[in-house]
Amino acid sequence: MAHMRWDESYSVRSTLLDGHHKLLFYVVDRYHDALHQHATIEVLADLFGQVIDYTAMHFDVEEELMQRSGYPFLKSHKNAHGFLLHRAESLLARINSGDQVACNQAAEFLSDWWEKHIRGIDAQYAPYMEQVVLDDIAV
Ligand SMILES: [Fe+2]
Ligand SMILES: [Fe+2]
Repeated sequence: MAHMRWDESYSVRSTLLDGHHKLLFYVVDRYHDALHQHATIEVLADLFGQVIDYTAMHFDVEEELMQRSGYPFLKSHKNAHGFLLHRAESLLARINSGDQVACNQAAEFLSDWWEKHIRGIDAQYAPYMEQVVLDDIAV
């Protein structure tokens, strides 16, 4: 599987959110590397859990910024976030129960998910982001 590398074509016109996406790509890449190096299921569960934790934090901040920017499709974007987290958590539960197939499915899911989500619906809020003031956002 190809490495995930952030480049300007993924930019959502927010330095903060681009930074999150870069770090998410990095963590997803670490998961892929671990899988290719035949890491134990405990290591994979730990890495996948880190992706989920970081993703949940990112979604909270992204939703806050979308709200501040006046982005009109916040509700459907929030629903997409909820759906993705729910799927990730069910994969993590399977990995934690020792399901090797779920480890592979998680790798495919992560790449596909971020590629489609950032280029698809995150890109739609980009034009609204340039006006947002980042005074008290917790990162
Ligand atoms: Fe998003
Ligand atoms: Fe995002």
